[in-house]
Amino acid sequence: MIRVLCLSGPNLQLLGTREPGIYGTETLEQIHERLRAEGAALGAEVECAQSNHEGVLCDRIGAAPGVYNGLLLNGAALTHTSLALYDALRAVALPCVEVHLSNPEAREPYRRASLIAPACVGKVSGFGGESYLLALRGLMGHLRKT
Ligand code: DQA
Repeated sequence: MIRVLCLSGPNLQLLGTREPGIYGTETLEQIHERLRAEGAALGAEVECAQSNHEGVLCDRIGAAPGVYNGLLLNGAALTHTSLALYDALRAVALPCVEVHLSNPEAREPYRRASLIAPACVGKVSGFGGESYLLALRGLMGHLRKT
């Protein structure tokens, strides 16, 4: 059984009511439920967690080797600022897919740069909650090849 850890960063616990014009009306728990069901259909167990704290996300990434085969990470605003998340991903060397609900490249200029992208095998953005599911499919394909 393939095990996947899905991490979401700051303010994503507010999905459903947070800027619905940008992020949609689906809650993070609803996305997690769909992700777990999709994982089961693909032969993966998906564990999901959210934190507003950079260090907690680094702790989860650091503890992932030996437990999980791969990662999905929506770093939220930390995507654009966190060298610590980049270093954590490099340190564990587990395949990670970067996820975003919106398309940050099409938004404010300060969202265009991702510090974590160079430590990821790929990125899915712009499809709302569906981005998480597409990212899981991409990660599973990657894991099956390697
Ligand atoms: C986000 C995009 C980020 O720029 C933003 O800070 C978020 C959410 C997304 O999923 O679209 O909090 O990661």
